[in-house]
Amino acid sequence: MTDKIKQGALVGCGFFARNHMHGWQDVPGAQIVAVCDLDQSKAEAFSRDFGGRRVFTDVQRMLSEMDLDFVDVATTPPSHRPLVECVAGSGVAVICQKPIADTYADAKAMVAAAETAEVPFFIHENFRWQKGIMAAKALIDQGQIGTLRFARFSFRHGYDNYVNQPYLAEIQRFALMDVGIHLYDVARHVMGEVQHVSCETQRRNPIVAGEDAFTSLLRHTNGGVSMVDCSFHSTIRPEPFPESLLWIEGDTGTVELRTDFTLTLHTEDGAETQDVEADVPRWGGRPWHVVQDSVINFQAHVVDVLNGKTHPQPSGADNLKTLALALASYDAMQSASVIDMKAWEARQS
Ligand SMILES: NC(=O)c1ccc[n+]([C@@H]2O[C@H](COP(=O)([O-])OP(=O)(O)OC[C@H]3O[C@@H](n4cnc5c(N)ncnc54)[C@H](O)[C@@H]3O)[C@@H](O)[C@H]2O)c1
Repeated sequence: MTDKIKQGALVGCGFFARNHMHGWQDVPGAQIVAVCDLDQSKAEAFSRDFGGRRVFTDVQRMLSEMDLDFVDVATTPPSHRPLVECVAGSGVAVICQKPIADTYADAKAMVAAAETAEVPFFIHENFRWQKGIMAAKALIDQGQIGTLRFARFSFRHGYDNYVNQPYLAEIQRFALMDVGIHLYDVARHVMGEVQHVSCETQRRNPIVAGEDAFTSLLRHTNGGVSMVDCSFHSTIRPEPFPESLLWIEGDTGTVELRTDFTLTLHTEDGAETQDVEADVPRWGGRPWHVVQDSVINFQAHVVDVLNGKTHPQPSGADNLKTLALALASYDAMQSASVIDMKAWEARQS
């Protein structure tokens, strides 16, 4: 028997929502039947651009008028908690863009709301769904480099993000909460949970209010060590945005993902390199294809979860640990100390 096509709604018709909407059109098994934005004209224009959908400005009203299987929240963080609580409270599966929330208390309440309602709760955390990162993880899971000892997760560029996302220049907590949480999710996904963290942040571009660069050092509970670094104000040619660089060492080999889309497995037998460049979606374009392809991969995964085939990756509950790591990194920076994650999490309750 084939699975019923899941009916979804998209909340937030801004910059990144266009990638969501295009992506949903490419994913079999789900369709977006309604869109919602506080700004009615924005929602109407968005709906028109995609051939027409029911338009709402209020999520509660949308939930009462539509029979939905899932709601995809693509708004900025201050609205995440009320929206997720509202959707989960209606018994509907919910996807929330990263960062899950600005505070640990909000994120915890969102996870609790989804658990109480017994609905799937996904975080749209697409880096781990990028082609190169998935291929690197597959080599590691096959045991190609043995026990993991060291990793570097890096995202450095000088691309002008502020054109599409002007709010990034205004927020007080920027690089760690924007790209840091992506990198921390990948670090946890690959290397496992974090025992302690230290961090240095920098504000390099005078037009931004918050930090636009950071360097973190993580000790994982398996004994492995990771460096995680990010800069929005680096001069590199060719411009690597939005590629992540991975260097992961195990006892018997190393996996290297370079910003030229090559993935190399180094072992005693030599080096084997594969091309891991994502396809450019027919609606997309470079350099965003890396991200656009990962949105489609993530959304296909959502459909699998809704059809009972697997569990959310990452779930809200899992992502709480990633948020904790980002927030603890600020504390580490401000106190010039190493933060023990178990103790940090215990202090939040
Ligand atoms: N995963 C990624 O690769 C990636 C990339 C870019 C942005 N993002 C994330 O996507 C999210 C959205 O970013 P953006 O740049 O598209 O923002 P944006 O400001 O362009 O769009 C957000 C939209 O949400 C609407 N909105 C806010 N509160 C609402 C509410 N309560 N109900 C309905 N609509 C509401 C706003 O009116 C706005 O149109 C952010 O959390 C950002 O971090 C993720």
